[in-house]
Amino acid sequence: MSSASEISKELKSLVQEFEQTLDQASSLQDIEAARVDYLGRKGRLAEIMSKLPGLPNEERPQIGRKANEIKQELNSLLSNTISDIDKVKEDEGQALFDPSMPGRTPDIGSLHPVTKVINDICSIFVKLGFDVVTGPEIETDFYNFEALNLPPGHPARDMQDTLYISESVVLRTHTSPLQVRTMLKRKPPVAAIAPGKVYRRDSDLTHTPMFNQIEGFLVDTDVNMADLRGTLTAFAHEIFDPGVKVRFRPSFFPFTEPSAEVDISCVMCGGRGKSATGETCRVCKETGWVEILGCGMIDPAVFEKVGYDSEKYTGFAFGLGVERVAMLKYGIGDLRMFFENDLRFLNQFS
Ligand code: DAH
Repeated sequence: MSSASEISKELKSLVQEFEQTLDQASSLQDIEAARVDYLGRKGRLAEIMSKLPGLPNEERPQIGRKANEIKQELNSLLSNTISDIDKVKEDEGQALFDPSMPGRTPDIGSLHPVTKVINDICSIFVKLGFDVVTGPEIETDFYNFEALNLPPGHPARDMQDTLYISESVVLRTHTSPLQVRTMLKRKPPVAAIAPGKVYRRDSDLTHTPMFNQIEGFLVDTDVNMADLRGTLTAFAHEIFDPGVKVRFRPSFFPFTEPSAEVDISCVMCGGRGKSATGETCRVCKETGWVEILGCGMIDPAVFEKVGYDSEKYTGFAFGLGVERVAMLKYGIGDLRMFFENDLRFLNQFS
């Protein structure tokens, strides 16, 4: 037969155990099972209470009161747990208890159009045998200017709107320093392209202080202008459309001689200069042509800086603006779209 103190102990541990059982319950069914187990007619509380008649008369009322208190405590634990579960049900719109509800699909990201165009351009040149190289965005005067035949005081330095970190350290204004870095490391024949961010103190409708360029160059014996034309024409046909016309216009860059700029027939108006309804084409400004890159035969002065024998080797180089190519390829009219991260814009490329 149990004594009053044993019964009292059992009652106390009942509360703790009930609490633990409820903690583990994850559905209303679990809670109902716990209720039957503890508070039911043949439950654990009832079982303890059945021992009361065996107690001495003077101890019975006190333990009886205690048992009633415990019963109330168990009941309030029960209703708290039920209302907690109800709240979860409400918050999750019943999903907790409706296995037939379709799952929530998380948004899957997609590549930024600029990244896509970088990848596309790189893979075209990789197929042609070019390696992909990269280099630092913080660059010294030597690589960004001097080794590219732009000595201090050269007027063409002004064109670049340079952001200076110190007198001899700059944020690179173009990816052309990768020509120098790569040629210093490798001996000809070498063919490489270098994608990367470049920086200029320039910001308006068609310029941003940071944009992406891709540099390309090839050095070997007997490389000539026809190789450059063939390579860049094949590239333009591949990245835009085999039907685009490509033209080379004489130009000037300090690191190439001769130099050219490459235009393609306007992708918006098909080179007609006018839209189908006869309006002026805003992309090519009625000329029928749009510029896509600068290029030329690498100046012997650059070879001298990197220790290549300019009697033996010749090479071509080119540099293009990635955002510009992306705008033409996807028909985007406003450069700023690329930098605003508006999902309504970006989702169109997924
Ligand atoms: N670095 C030039 C720029 O940013 C672009 C360029 C022109 C690169 C001609 C070249 C080149 O490699 O041959 O304006």
